[in-house]
Parts: sequence; structure tokens; C-alpha cells
Amino acid sequence: MIRLFVALELSDEIRERLSALEVGLPGAHWVPEDNLHLTLRFIGEVSEGEAYDLHDALTGIRAPAFTLTISGTGIFETGQRPHTLWASVAKSDALTRLQGKIEAVLVRAGCEREGRKFTPHITLARLKGAPMVRLHPLLAAHALLREEMAVDHFTLFSSALGSGDPVYKAEVNYPLQ
Ligand code: 2AM
Repeated sequence: MIRLFVALELSDEIRERLSALEVGLPGAHWVPEDNLHLTLRFIGEVSEGEAYDLHDALTGIRAPAFTLTISGTGIFETGQRPHTLWASVAKSDALTRLQGKIEAVLVRAGCEREGRKFTPHITLARLKGAPMVRLHPLLAAHALLREEMAVDHFTLFSSALGSGDPVYKAEVNYPLQ
């Protein structure tokens, strides 16, 4: 079995800038610089055969290259408990359409439909008990964060889970036109 997800790789420069946002924050586990990415579709554990079918489906996607805009940071919370700190990605038609195409071909190839709405984000840190009073100033300090990146491919990643951070490997890049 192999654990897969589809994501946008970030340039070295963007990953460097995003990892520079790391600060001491109680209860925060920061994503290592090498692991920063923008998930388009989490797939999960599949067999080698299924993985090949999904890869084959992804090769059929035709979509234009575009510019990604990162602006500011935000948090996901459940019942007022923040659990994820992320860099915010401006919604763009190109990104939404690309994500829609990926979702459609993967479902046609046998994946379960993703029930959740696509909220493009780059996870910076996972939070466990990080106090809200510490997060507000952090979000305010990032309000002017703005980075642009040319996107000319998307990527099928594998993820190996162990005791520490997951190890992500770019398995295949799919070009955008
Ligand atoms: P997240 O960073 O917002 O949590 C690889 O695991 C990527 O897939 C992560 O970036 C994660 O997004 C995303 N993902 C979505 N659903 C997931 C799930 N059920 N388990 C693990 N990762 C998931």
C-alpha cells in the first residue's frame, strides 16, 4: 500500500520565506521547510495497482499554468480550539478549476468523493493547546505577508508516516500548459 496526495510544490524561495515565519509558540509543531506544500487532494492509502490507475487518470488533465498568490495567515479551529496555522492562498479561477479537474478524474478512477469544500491553504504548524492570545498578534503580524509564485505543474506525492514528521516524496509531476 502507498499513501498518496496531490499537491502543488512550492519553490525553494517560498518555502524559505514561509519557514521564516516560525516563532516559539507553546503547543505548536511547525511543518519542516522541506514538507511545505499546498494540498489539492488527499487520497490516502491505495494499492500499487490503484496508484497506477490514479496516476493514469491524472495524466489526462489539461489545465493552464497560473500564478499563485499567498496572502496572510489564518487558523482552522474546532469549537474555538485552534488546531492548524496556515498561509492563506488567494482563491483564483485557475486554482479552483485545476482542483475541480483533479477531483473529477480521481473520483472517476475510483476515489471516494471529497465531501469537504476546497479551502486552499499551506499548513505551517499544527497546534495543540496554543493559546488564542498568542495567535491573534501572530496573525496580525502576518497580515502583510504576500508572495507570488508561478505554477507550471502539479505533483503526486507519497507520504511515509513514522514516529517523526512524515516523509513526502514527489512521485510524478504533471505539467500545466
Ligand atoms: P493539512 O496540512 O491541511 O492537514 C498530506 O498529508 C496532506 O494531505 C496534508 O497537507 C493534509 O492537509 C492533507 N490531508 C487532507 N486530509 C487528510 C487526512 N485525512 N489525513 C492526512 N492528511 C490529510
